[in-house]
Amino acid sequence: MANILLVTSSPRGSEGLSTRFATEIAEGLKTRLRGTLVTRDLSRHPPPHITQAYIHGRVAAPEARTPEQVEAVGFAQQLVDEVSAADVLVLGSGMINFGPSSQLKAWFDHITWPGVTFGYGAAGTPQGLLAGKKVYLVTAAGGVFSQGDWAAFDFQTGYLRHLLGFIGLTDVEVVRVEGTVFGPEAAKAAIDAAQAHVQAVLDQAA
Ligand SMILES: Cc1cc2nc3c(=O)[nH]c(=O)nc-3n(C[C@H](O)[C@H](O)[C@H](O)COP(=O)(O)O)c2cc1C
Repeated sequence: MANILLVTSSPRGSEGLSTRFATEIAEGLKTRLRGTLVTRDLSRHPPPHITQAYIHGRVAAPEARTPEQVEAVGFAQQLVDEVSAADVLVLGSGMINFGPSSQLKAWFDHITWPGVTFGYGAAGTPQGLLAGKKVYLVTAAGGVFSQGDWAAFDFQTGYLRHLLGFIGLTDVEVVRVEGTVFGPEAAKAAIDAAQAHVQAVLDQAA
């Protein structure tokens, strides 16, 4: 049995294609693997930006934390616990101004925590502390970024891969939904291609 965590983050709510396909993957895996599914919807419930209370609170001894620090650290701990408990993480991200949404960035800002999700090895090399999880990363974008002239401006997929790898999540399969702004035909082709990829992911997991 697998514990699946679905994290969605498109500010476009129910219209979000990353949300749609990430949800399809998570629900499909739940059925196929007879797993459990926990959902963290960052679109409906955006995490706050990190604050001084969190930054100071996470290095303070628990008994020395102010009430504000206790709340800030407690929330981050809750997000980390959700990831730690998962065998499979399904992450949905829609491109906003060439990167992930600020909702998703705020989630990473909470879970990228020295001594908890990453540390430093003997030579000072960063080491991710989360391991042994499969990640499905669904990235949606209006333009095409997997190849061509705009690939250099994709600050979403590569950045998210890097953040995941930094905390130890290196087994990442990316599903792209891209090129949806070039008219209805191109949008349909992009959605059909993503749908086929999602199906392949689920067929492989069965
Ligand atoms: C506020 C906003 C900013 C966007 N910025 C970009 C962008 O920089 N580059 C791009 O290719 N598409 C951009 N788009 C288009 C989205 O990436 C596209 O609609 C994608 O499907 C969003 O993901 P979602 O469907 O999961 O919401 C933007 C859309 C919105 C609403």
